[in-house]
Amino acid sequence: MNRFIPGETVDQVVPIVRDLAAKGLEITLDVVGEDITTVEQSHAARDAYLELIEQLKELGLGERAEMSVKLSMFGQALEGGHELALANVRPVVEAAAAIGTTVTLDAEDHTTLDSMFAIHEELRKDFPQTGCVIQAYLFRTEEDARRLAANGSRVRIVKGAYKEPAEVAYQVKAEIDQAYVRILKTLMDGEGYPMIGSHDPRLIAITQELARRAGRKLDEYEFQMLYGIRSEEHVRLAAEGHRMRVYTAYGTDWYGYFMRRLAEKPANLLFFVRSMITK
Ligand code: FDA
Repeated sequence: MNRFIPGETVDQVVPIVRDLAAKGLEITLDVVGEDITTVEQSHAARDAYLELIEQLKELGLGERAEMSVKLSMFGQALEGGHELALANVRPVVEAAAAIGTTVTLDAEDHTTLDSMFAIHEELRKDFPQTGCVIQAYLFRTEEDARRLAANGSRVRIVKGAYKEPAEVAYQVKAEIDQAYVRILKTLMDGEGYPMIGSHDPRLIAITQELARRAGRKLDEYEFQMLYGIRSEEHVRLAAEGHRMRVYTAYGTDWYGYFMRRLAEKPANLLFFVRSMITK
C-alpha cells in the first residue's frame, strides 16, 4: 500500500511476514486504528487480532511474529474504558500464548499510561511474557524503567512519538537521547528483556556496548525497527546474529500511524506521495 503500511488486510500482509521471516527477521504486527468511538468498534479490533493470530497459526508463523496493540483501539478512552480494554486484550493475549507467541502493549499519549501499565501488570499474572513500551521523552519513564527492569518484564524502549507538553516531557532532542541512554542502561542492568525500538545508529552502537558490559548474550535483548525504515540495517543486524524484529502495521485506518511517521521525518511525505502515484 505505501512504504510504511504494506497492506490493508491479513491476506495482503501474510506474504510480507513470510518474506521478513525468510530474511531471518522477527516480526511484530500492528493492526492500525486508534480513533474508535463505540464499544462495537473495540470488539471489532479485538476480533481483527484474533483473526490474525488464527492465520499465523495456520501458516506456522506463530513463533516468529508477535502482536503490538494500542489499548485506545480496544476502547480505553471510552466510558469504563480501562475494564473494556482489559476485557478486549485478554483473549488476544491468551490466543497469542496458545500459538507460542506474545503481545506488547504500545505506549500512547501520557494520559493513558497509568491504565496501560496497570493492564500490563494484570496480564503478566497469567502471561508473564506480555510486553509494554516506555518512552524516553517522558520524565516519568526512568522510574517506570526501574520498576519494570526489577520485575523481569519484556520492555520496548522508544524515544516517543506523541506531541507532549513541557510539564511532562523533554522537548530537546539531545535531552531525549540522553534520557534514552540512561533508561537503556537501567534495562540492560536489570532482570528483564530489553527491546530497543530505534533507527538511530548511535543508539544501536551504544546498545551493543551496554549489552556487552552487562554480560548479556545476543538472545538476551533485541532490536526493533519500523517496516520501511532503514530496511538494509534490519538485515545487517540480523546477519550479525542479533534478534531483529520489524514492526509491521497494516489495515485501512492508517492516518494516525502515518502522521506520526511524518512528524518524525517530514521527508517521508515524498515517499508517501510517490507510493500513491505508483499505486
Ligand atoms: P530519530 O527519530 O532520532 O532518528 C534517527 C535516525 O533514524 C534518523 O536520522 C533517520 O536516519 C532514521 N529515521 C528515524 N525515523 C525515521 C522515519 N520515520 N523515516 C525515515 N527514517 C527515519 N512511539 C511511541 O510513542 N509509542 C510506541 O509504542 C512506539 N512503538 C514503536 C515501535 C518500534 C519498533 C519503533 C522503532 C518505534 C516505535 N515508536 C513508538 C516510535 C518512536 O517513539 C520514535 O518516534 C521513532 O522510532 C523515531 O525515533 P528513532 O529512535 O528512530 O530516532
